[in-house]
Amino acid sequence: MHFHLPLLLFLLVTVVPSDAGLLAQGSDSLVHAAHFAHRRAIKRSTGLAQDLRRAFAGILLDQPSSSGTTGRVYCVSVSGLSSNNTSSTGSGSNGTATSVSSGSAASASGTSSSGSSGGSSSPWKLIQSYQGSNFFDGWDFFADADPTHGTVQYVDQGTAQSSNLTEINGQGHAIMRVETTPQVSGNRMSVRITTTATYTGGLVILDAVHMPTGCATWPAFWSNGPNWPAGGEIDIVEGVNDYSNNQATIHTNPGCTIPSSNSSALNITGTVVGGTNCAAAETGNAGCGITATQSNTYGVGFNSNGGGVYAMQWVNSGISVFFFPRSSIPSDITAGAPQPSNWDQPMAFWPATDCNPFQFFNSHSAIFDTTLCGDWAGSVWDSAGAAGQAQSCAQRTGVSTCEAFVAGNGTAFADAYWEVSYVKIFQSS
Ligand SMILES: *[C@@H]1O[C@H](CO)[C@@H](O)[C@H](O)[C@H]1NC(C)=O
Ligand SMILES: *[C@@H]1O[C@H](CO)[C@@H](O)[C@H](O)[C@H]1NC(C)=O
Ligand SMILES: *[C@@H]1O[C@H](CO)[C@@H](O)[C@H](O)[C@H]1NC(C)=O
Ligand SMILES: *[C@@H]1O[C@H](CO)[C@@H](O)[C@H](O)[C@H]1NC(C)=O
Ligand SMILES: *[C@@H]1O[C@H](CO)[C@@H](O)[C@H](O)[C@H]1NC(C)=O
Ligand SMILES: *[C@@H]1O[C@H](CO)[C@@H](O)[C@H](O)[C@H]1NC(C)=O
Ligand SMILES: *[C@@H]1O[C@H](CO)[C@@H](O)[C@H](O)[C@H]1NC(C)=O
Repeated sequence: MHFHLPLLLFLLVTVVPSDAGLLAQGSDSLVHAAHFAHRRAIKRSTGLAQDLRRAFAGILLDQPSSSGTTGRVYCVSVSGLSSNNTSSTGSGSNGTATSVSSGSAASASGTSSSGSSGGSSSPWKLIQSYQGSNFFDGWDFFADADPTHGTVQYVDQGTAQSSNLTEINGQGHAIMRVETTPQVSGNRMSVRITTTATYTGGLVILDAVHMPTGCATWPAFWSNGPNWPAGGEIDIVEGVNDYSNNQATIHTNPGCTIPSSNSSALNITGTVVGGTNCAAAETGNAGCGITATQSNTYGVGFNSNGGGVYAMQWVNSGISVFFFPRSSIPSDITAGAPQPSNWDQPMAFWPATDCNPFQFFNSHSAIFDTTLCGDWAGSVWDSAGAAGQAQSCAQRTGVSTCEAFVAGNGTAFADAYWEVSYVKIFQSS
């Protein structure tokens, strides 16, 4: 990556004033306070980490701090943070695959775009279908360094195909793998793809049979708009390592919040995990996340259940993410004529009352990626207890660092693959 960043905004992630204040309180014991501060720091850096994939212009520098430990300084180009305009970009460091406007991409759409079998009264019209032998048409392969500092080398389409990282399998499903060569000296090859088509508002449906899982993995299916975070970001499927509960998150400009962290009040099945402020700049880039309560929503539980369907609805009333396990996919979805008003509660909902979905989000491209280690999966290698993962990856693998595991344990990545039946993008009809 080239760092031609015009101006950098630095956020120090180790000890910040709030932690110092915490220590000064001298509440219980200093040890307890320090432990708490440490956890806060991990949580904060995890939030940042998640988002540095999003903060396309972001780079991470390690620099020694006075205390001798390594401090992490996150740098986000101001053009990325201050929304309006990135006319000065073009430094290859933004990490985005340029989103060409839709139009021409439509022709690339896969086989059966005629799924709408005369279906009844769906308010949605299919505009893009990625499915079958042409699944990969209409996506750009991102082949630069991972913006989130994972130990992966994203490869172009030709390399992905010749290296057996992508294929359409016997069921007509799209496969996206991580390289499983037993030992590698540098990064492992992986795949990150972005739709050339863009959409503002709409309904995006993903049917996946399998998703990447296991220690060191950090897969996501998500979308974002231009001039991050001005165009907004919507993370539909995301997690790391051996997590079993999905997290959906949005990241926006200041002014977007969740009205409550009460699941009943929001009418959702999920749980608000962090704060209710979705502004990237005001939350250390963390945004506002909602975690699923069921363990069949992500990772091993998702895969052993034959996966399922995720649907993201972006309409005047707000943005929702729904999950349906394989055995309970609504028939209107299967018929290609989705009727969200008939569906059960979403796992996540960000109501328009406190976050105008057409002010804070526009012109999104959908993205798949699988990175390894990096800012999130790597930073929680030693942690246990989050999102259904009982044991840390360090314990589980017997390997002390994420990077060493990636370099030396390639066969462990046999399950680090996406198997996607389809992605469909609908607009209101
Ligand atoms: C960006 O846009 C906002 C309004 O959307 C405006 O208040 C602000 O001044 C603009 N900033 C720049 C740098 O143009
Ligand atoms: C960004 O700024 C440039 C010049 O400063 C201007 O020409 C362009 O129209 C602006 N673009 C947007 C999207 O505001
Ligand atoms: C982002 O990077 C790509 C290629 O790396 C470049 O073509 C594009 O202009 C950049 N976009 C922005 C908004 O900086
Ligand atoms: C591609 O990888 C899969 C999974 O490891 C394997 O089953 C298949 O045989 C490979 N195909 C080729 C052509 O190497
Ligand atoms: C959560 O919201 C529900 C429904 O609005 C309400 O009945 C309940 O008391 C709320 N719970 C809390 C802890 O505020
Ligand atoms: C909650 O969602 C269900 C299902 O979508 C809906 O039937 C119900 O009216 C909603 N309740 C409230 C209070 O919005
Ligand atoms: C990782 O590789 C080491 C060295 O080959 C091996 O001893 C260990 O069993 C492997 N662990 C896993 C979980 O694959």
